[in-house]
Amino acid sequence: MAKDLLHFFGLKEDPFTLTPDPAYFYPSSSHNEGLLLMDYAIDQKEGFLIVIGEPGTGKTTLLKVFLEKWRDRAETAIILTPRLSPEEFLIAVAEDLKLKVKRKYKNEIIKALRNFMMESISENKRVVIIVDEAQNLPDETLEELRLLSNLETDREKLLQIILVGQPELESKLKKEKLRQLNQRITTRVLLNKFQPGETHDYITYRAAKAGRKNLHVDRKAEKIIHRRSKGTPRLINMLLSRSLMAAYLEENNTIGTRHVHNAIKSLQHSDMHIPITQRAIPLAIGAVAVALLASSLYMYPGKLLKEIKTIPPGKMLSAGTEESAGGPIGGGDNKEPVKSAVTIPSGKVASIITDFAYIRVGPSVDTKIAGWSATGNLFTVMKEATDERKKKWYQVMYKGEKRWISEAVVEVLNMDNMHSGL
Ligand SMILES: Nc1ncnc2c1ncn2[C@@H]1O[C@H](COP(=O)(O)OP(=O)(O)O)[C@@H](O)[C@H]1O
Ligand SMILES: [Mg+2]
Repeated sequence: MAKDLLHFFGLKEDPFTLTPDPAYFYPSSSHNEGLLLMDYAIDQKEGFLIVIGEPGTGKTTLLKVFLEKWRDRAETAIILTPRLSPEEFLIAVAEDLKLKVKRKYKNEIIKALRNFMMESISENKRVVIIVDEAQNLPDETLEELRLLSNLETDREKLLQIILVGQPELESKLKKEKLRQLNQRITTRVLLNKFQPGETHDYITYRAAKAGRKNLHVDRKAEKIIHRRSKGTPRLINMLLSRSLMAAYLEENNTIGTRHVHNAIKSLQHSDMHIPITQRAIPLAIGAVAVALLASSLYMYPGKLLKEIKTIPPGKMLSAGTEESAGGPIGGGDNKEPVKSAVTIPSGKVASIITDFAYIRVGPSVDTKIAGWSATGNLFTVMKEATDERKKKWYQVMYKGEKRWISEAVVEVLNMDNMHSGL
């Protein structure tokens, strides 16, 4: 978000980023209950626990809050990219727990894990394996997890497992071949969307955290935000970021219905034809446009170009690029302008879920690195590809070039689906 905008609203930082930041955790009734159940289950050494929630309801945020709480009392392995075979999965767990394994064979790793767990238990520490987006775990890997959870002493479980995922996870576990695993699950947490009053409190709370007490949102505007987002925090954030921008452009410090409608419209523009020359943007860009880019409106350059025309000259900067993305590493810096029209066929948007994500020249880890990006940044997906390892890659625009990003570091949202909710 642009400094001018933050200053205008009296904010220290952007209150509505898409990063799952535990510092901004708002304990809605459902989130609070979820956290209590998780605490209880781990405290009681119950084996398996699942957390279910639709995209954007705060699963990853809840995980991070949980991890902070248990940091000193548990050894945790967190798997964020679960499309892994049983072996790959075990290796990832061992690496995350910083286990020293001489040869990366399955039984060696399991032996090392067992020793590690015995040691941890003697220090009265829990060992917890957490899988985010667990609906993506292959069945064989789920089965491997079940076998792992069998590790126990005659008195107690050595390992606890938390699977976090979208509602498909629940249906997946109902499959006949996963029946045994399903029976092991002792605690189920369901994350609900916010109630209307919670949406209000959530907005107020996040704004206050970011430095602005009493951010003024018109009652009607707030109602529209709640209705259109259905109380989904991620959508609330997207709407609020854009509404703040719209209000700022009018130098109005109350968010009104007009600004929210504006925000909704900008979210619906993701499937247009966008004639864009990369050079045109940096030259014309103003502080506000930089903010638009940084606050991830970059995926709607058509809208962006329109808004640039309305920026008063006083707010112009000489140049700018996507500030939210990192600089190029290792010679991927290609300044050729893109002249062709870019079509966005799918309405799919890739949101970075890791702290650090490489952007590559081609759809494979064997290609050159063009640069990097960080959590919460959004890219419109232009194409999809699969590499030799059967991993998916998404083609995105990065610094004006068609680049590729791995499925391992993104979550893909379908904006068309969101529209039906907006
Ligand atoms: N209880 C909450 N408190 C504060 N922010 C939340 C909460 N739930 C969700 N969010 C915000 O909503 C967005 C999506 O949350 P995330 O945890 O990534 O959802 P999920 O993992 O379920 O897709 C993030 O910006 C996050 O900060
Ligand atoms: Mg998540």
